[in-house]
Amino acid sequence: MDTLAWKWMVAGGVLWLAASAHAQVPTQRLGDPGRWDYQNSCASCHGVAGRGDGPLVPFLVTRPSDLTLLAGRHGGVFPKDRVAAMIDGRGTADIGTHGTREMPVWGSVYFDRVKNVGGSDEQAERAAQRRIDDLIDHLERMQRK
Ligand code: HEC
Repeated sequence: MDTLAWKWMVAGGVLWLAASAHAQVPTQRLGDPGRWDYQNSCASCHGVAGRGDGPLVPFLVTRPSDLTLLAGRHGGVFPKDRVAAMIDGRGTADIGTHGTREMPVWGSVYFDRVKNVGGSDEQAERAAQRRIDDLIDHLERMQRK
């Protein structure tokens, strides 16, 4: 078999693995993964529309940020790298005003999910980055002028 055929086989295998790892996830995730993840992981605190008014707010020390004003608060430019670091959380030791971070460290959460079903470090890292990228796309679309 030539190298190209091999590459296709490997790519197919990886896709199949990825598909089976997500088999338990409802299909609408495929259409707009960032939105799906947002509604499931973020809306409880930041609110469905991102305005910092989710149902868990009364139980938090720090009010969750209004995520629709991220660009507005940064001179009209969506601060992509900052947002990525905030969501990931593994590089920023602390973003809370009270000395602790109330928001989960999503980079670790998403990484561990893949590790826990037998994924390699590399697969876990790739999956975590992809989910964070999808979330960022969704947040970017949410910005108010
Ligand atoms: C348990 C509640 C909670 C959940 C769930 C949560 N957050 Fe947060 N988030 C916060 C709080 C509180 C802050 C304010 C900073 C702090 O003190 O932790 C924050 C801050 C942020 C910031 C920084 C905003 C700024 O002003 O710079 C971003 C971006 C963010 N969250 C995105 C997300 C995303 C995306 C998700 C879902 C994957 C999510 N959050 C889930 C509570 C939460």
